[in-house]
Parts: sequence; C-alpha cells; structure tokens
Amino acid sequence: DIKFTIVGAGSSYTPELLEELSQRREELPVREIMLYDINEERLDIMAGFCKRFAKHLGMEVDIKSTLDLDKALYGADFVDTQIRVGGNRQRVLDEKIPLKYHLVGQETTGAGGMMKAMRTIPVMLDVARKMEELSPTGWLINYTNPTGLVTEAVTRYTKANIAGFCSGGIFPKMWAKRSLGISYDRVQYDYAGLNHMNFISNITIDGRPVTEDEFLKIAGENTDVDLELVKLLGVIPSPYLQYYYHTTEKVNKILSRPRTRGEEVMLLEKEVYDAYADQNNFLKPAALSKRGGGGYSEVAIGFVNAIYNNIDTAMVVNVPNNGAIKFLPDTAVVEIGCLVNKRGISPLNVANIPEMCWGLISAVKNYEQLAVESAVEGNVRKAKLALLAHPLVREYDLVEKLIPELLEANKMYLPQF
Ligand code: G6P
Ligand code: MN
Repeated sequence: DIKFTIVGAGSSYTPELLEELSQRREELPVREIMLYDINEERLDIMAGFCKRFAKHLGMEVDIKSTLDLDKALYGADFVDTQIRVGGNRQRVLDEKIPLKYHLVGQETTGAGGMMKAMRTIPVMLDVARKMEELSPTGWLINYTNPTGLVTEAVTRYTKANIAGFCSGGIFPKMWAKRSLGISYDRVQYDYAGLNHMNFISNITIDGRPVTEDEFLKIAGENTDVDLELVKLLGVIPSPYLQYYYHTTEKVNKILSRPRTRGEEVMLLEKEVYDAYADQNNFLKPAALSKRGGGGYSEVAIGFVNAIYNNIDTAMVVNVPNNGAIKFLPDTAVVEIGCLVNKRGISPLNVANIPEMCWGLISAVKNYEQLAVESAVEGNVRKAKLALLAHPLVREYDLVEKLIPELLEANKMYLPQF
C-alpha cells in the first residue's frame, strides 16, 4: 500500500491531489497521506480541511500531518513537492525588482525566476538527499518552480528519483477539449524544449493529423501569444513565450495593472484559506479555480498510476536530455514527451525542433545551467554570468545593478551565499 507525502502541504492545491487520489481509489491503494509543511498554522488548517474533504469524498485513508521532514519522507512511495520558499512576499519582489528596470518581472521567467531558483534549490536538494536515505526507492514528483531548474539541480547533484512536472504539459489537451470538445486521451502531440520554453507540433486526434481549422481552434485557446504569430511559426509556443515574442507589450501591460500577479495571488490565497479554515466547509473553494496551476494533480496522480500499476503512459516530463535534443548537453534537463511505467521515465524520440527556436532554447538553457551552478555553489560570479546569458536581461549594466539588489532582497533565504 502506498504512502503518499506532500511537502508544502500548506499550499492551496493540496485538496486537488486528494480529490484525484479519491477518483483513482480502485487502482491506487493509498494507506497514508502525510502532510508536511514548515508553517504550523497553515498545516493545521489544511489537515483539518483535508480530513473533512476526504470524509465528504468517502475516502478511507489515514491523513496525518507533521512538521518533521524526516518523518514525512520516511518510507514514502511518492513525495509530491509544491513549496514556495519565502512565500508570495518574495514572489512579489521577484516581479517588482526587474520591472523597475523595465524588464520582465515574473515568477519563473527572467531575473525573478533566477532568484526563485536561488531560494528553492538548496531546500529541494535537502529533500532529495534525505530521500536518498529515507525513501531510496520512492519517487519525488516535483511541482516546485522553477521546475526545470529544480529538476536539473536534483538530477545533477543527487541520486533521488525525480519527475519534474508543469501543468503546461497537458495544455494542448485542455485547449482541444475546450475548443473541440475532444477528450484528453484522443489527443497526442510532439512537445519539445524546456520548462516554460517549449513548442508543440504534430497534433493528432485519434492518430490522424489535425486539420488546419482544428489547429487554429486549438492554438486560439492560447491567448497569451498572437494567433498570427502561431501561424507564422507553424507550431504552438508555450504561453510563456509571450515574454520573449511580445516583451515590450507584456512589460507595459504588467506595469499598467494595479497589482502584480503575486499580489493578486496573495488576495486569492486569503479567500481560499478562509474557506479552508471554516469548520463547516467541506468543499473546494471556488477561488481556487482562479489559480494557474489547476489540473496539475491529474498529471501527478497519473504518474503515480503509471509507475505503481505499470501502465505505459505518455507524459510530458522534465528529464535529463541524454541526446534527445541534439543541440543541448546530456545533463541539461529538458521538458519533452516521455513514456512512463514501472521502470521509470523513458524519453520519446523528439521530432525535429523548428530551426527558429534553437537559439532561444539554447540561450535559456545556457542561463539555466549557470543559474543552477550558482544556486548550488553560492557563486555570485556565476549568477552574473547566468543573467548575461539570459536573452531577457543580457545587458552588463543591468546585470551589475540587478544582482546586488536581488541578493539583498533575498538574503534571509540564501544560506549558500
Ligand atoms: C502555470 C504554470 C505554473 C505556475 C502557474 C502560476 O500553471 O505552468 O508553473 O505556477 O501557472 O499560477 P498562479 O496562479 O500562481 O499565478
Ligand atoms: Mn509551470
């Protein structure tokens, strides 16, 4: 029977994991769900809600909570990590500091994304190293952002079994469902690149290539990039490509809003948490659907099912490249289509990547590798080199201004520096 641990269980998304486990209870015999967090207040509220929610769903499972990481990881079969080091307060700084210089200020992209990686990688390496001892055959299912950099750090510096995920892996399925009413299992595609830097091509429905009309309907759901641009490219870029292909427009748009996304999320969180704390409430709060990570639990538990029941499942996963993308090094973690079963994760053949995105993918991977090394070593020089390599920063005088400011704003969370 399965011990399923959630690290960062105070996250608003936790009940979605529970719901998904409940839906698959026939095939996934979960004996224990262990909730772990460093914030006792949020953990207590979440544990209380999860118990009410599980009862409402008719689940027979032991829900436990702990502030002790060793206890949480010990003997775990699956460890789902969804932490936010420094909370949304630091997210808002990740957004606002680059924006001062008219640069993209975003949770995972650009200079802000690098600072998130700096805060997060040491904590995630600690979890992974503990798993080497306490749950050596267990799987770490990572949703902690920036998931590509976190997965690269864990695969390069530890022996833990990790699968790095992003909700974006099933976006094309979501788009096809919304625009054409087609269920997830009928839609396939090639997916290649990095986390939040990827391109979708060769979409098929029931194994036949989509018509041009279907392609445009699916692509039209991705409203963050211009549909004319998609037509020009011939492939669908991740919504995060908006920051690369529409940089000035997006920066101006963010600056024109009264609040950053992080500030909005702080308001949403309050609403969501008030609902969780209400002793009479046993339903998922409506405000949760306004968060961008919705649907992620379906992928996470789909992974558990593929491994535990040895069911061949095609999934988009962050894995070491090992030759899959010809122009990237073997250790580079890439986000690509993979086959998952009991033996683990096997990357599928990557179809030709459109030539026009080789440069962007390479440059961003170049940044990521330097950022990972800087985060592990506490190396300021490499942090500067990482931003010099980043296509959204690149300019030397900006790098010299940004680095001291970002390090100062995060100093409580950077023991390695
Ligand atoms: C998407 C991304 C996630 C990200 C989320 C942000 O789902 O793939 O990596 O965490 O959006 O959502 P939020 O509600 O926090 O802005
Ligand atoms: Mn993501």
